[in-house]
Amino acid sequence: MASVSRARERSLLLVFTMKAQTAQSLDQLGVRFPEDLARLFSELRAEFDGQAGVMRDEASWTALRDAWLGRKAGMLAAITANWLKPAPVELKSAVGVAFNALRTHVDTVLAERHRAIQAAAEQTALAREHLDLSLPGVMRPVGTRHLIRQTFSEVERIFLSLGYQVAEGPEIESPYYNFEALNIPEFHPARDNMDTFYMETHAGQTTRLLRTHTSPMQIRTMEKRKPPVRIIVPGKVYRRDNPDATHSFMFHQVEGLAVDTDLTFRDFKGTIEYFIREFFGPSTKTRFRSSFFPFTEPSVEFDASCIFCNGRGTGCPKCKGSGWIELFGAGMVDPAVYGFVNYDAANLSGFAFGIGIDRLAMLKHGIGDIQMFFQNDVRFLRQFP
Ligand code: DAH
Repeated sequence: MASVSRARERSLLLVFTMKAQTAQSLDQLGVRFPEDLARLFSELRAEFDGQAGVMRDEASWTALRDAWLGRKAGMLAAITANWLKPAPVELKSAVGVAFNALRTHVDTVLAERHRAIQAAAEQTALAREHLDLSLPGVMRPVGTRHLIRQTFSEVERIFLSLGYQVAEGPEIESPYYNFEALNIPEFHPARDNMDTFYMETHAGQTTRLLRTHTSPMQIRTMEKRKPPVRIIVPGKVYRRDNPDATHSFMFHQVEGLAVDTDLTFRDFKGTIEYFIREFFGPSTKTRFRSSFFPFTEPSVEFDASCIFCNGRGTGCPKCKGSGWIELFGAGMVDPAVYGFVNYDAANLSGFAFGIGIDRLAMLKHGIGDIQMFFQNDVRFLRQFP
C-alpha cells in the first residue's frame, strides 16, 4: 500500500509538470524541430504509462481517463488547444502524427486496463462467494422424545383404542378440587402423604397449591360433562417429598375415569388387565390387593407379575422375591364423589385409576433411579431413541 501511494504522489507531481507544459505553446517550450517533438511526446507517453501502471480499481481508472481524455480539462484537450492548433506550418503534420499516436496509445491502454480491472473485481466476488463443498458440515445432534413422553404416548395409545378421551387440567389447583371434592376433608389422615407446595397468598386470596395427583380432573370433568364419561388425564403432579431413587417433588401420572349407567367391577378389571398386557406384554399376570382411597369404594392396589423374573420370585431383586410388582391404585368411584358434581349416584357407576408414569417407565426399562428422568444426562436419554 505504502509504495502504491508513494508512486501516486510521484505521478501527481509529474502530472502537475506535464499539465504545466501542455498549458504552454510549443514555441514557449522551445520546441522547434521534429526531434524535440518526439522527446516531448515520449515523455508524455511514459508519464501516461506510469500512471496506468499504478491504477488498481474502477475509481482510479475513471480518474485517469478523465485526466487524459476529459473534454475540457483533459491532457489531450490541452495538447489539441495549445500545441496542435497553434503549431507552425512546418511542425503541424508532425504534431498531428505524434498526437494521434499518443491518443491511440491512451485509448488502447485505457480499454485494456478497464477489462483487467473488471475481470479482477469479478474474480474477487467469485472468491468471496465460493462454496467449499468438501468442508465437513455442522453436526446438529438430533434429540429424541423423553422416555416419560414416550410412556405417556404409549398409555394414551392404549386407552384411546378403548374409546377414552384425553383431558388435561391445571397443575395449580384449589384445595377443593385436589382434596375436598375427592372426599378428602381437611383433617382426614389421607392428606398426610399428600403434603405439597402452597402458593403464597395475600389477604383475601384463595389458597392455591400444586396438585398432588391428577385426580382433581375427575371432578372438573364431571362438573362440565354429563355421563357417560371416559377420560384419561396425563400430567405433572407434585409432593413435598425429598428426592431419592424412588421419590421426586415432581412426577407424572395418568388418571383414568369411566362413568356410565352400568359399569361393573368386571369392566374395571377387564380394562385394567387389558391395559397391563398391552403395556408389559401378553403373558403378564395381574392381581388386586385391597386398599383404601377416599374417592373409591372398594379401592384396590394393582400388581403385575414381575416382568424381570416372569413372576417366579425366588432370588429376584426387583420384586424382592415376591414375584409381584406393585403398579398403581384404583377402584370403583365412591358414590360420595358423585354428590360433589351433581351426578345421580343411584343410577351411575364407574371406576377410576391413577397410574404413576415414572414408575411404569422404570419398571418397563429396568431403570433404578427416578432422578435419571430429570438430570438430562444425554448418555441416559440416548438409550431411548
Ligand atoms: N390419586 C391417587 C394418588 O395419587 C392415585 C389413585 C388411586 C387415583 C385410586 C385414582 C384411584 O383414580 O381410583 O395416590
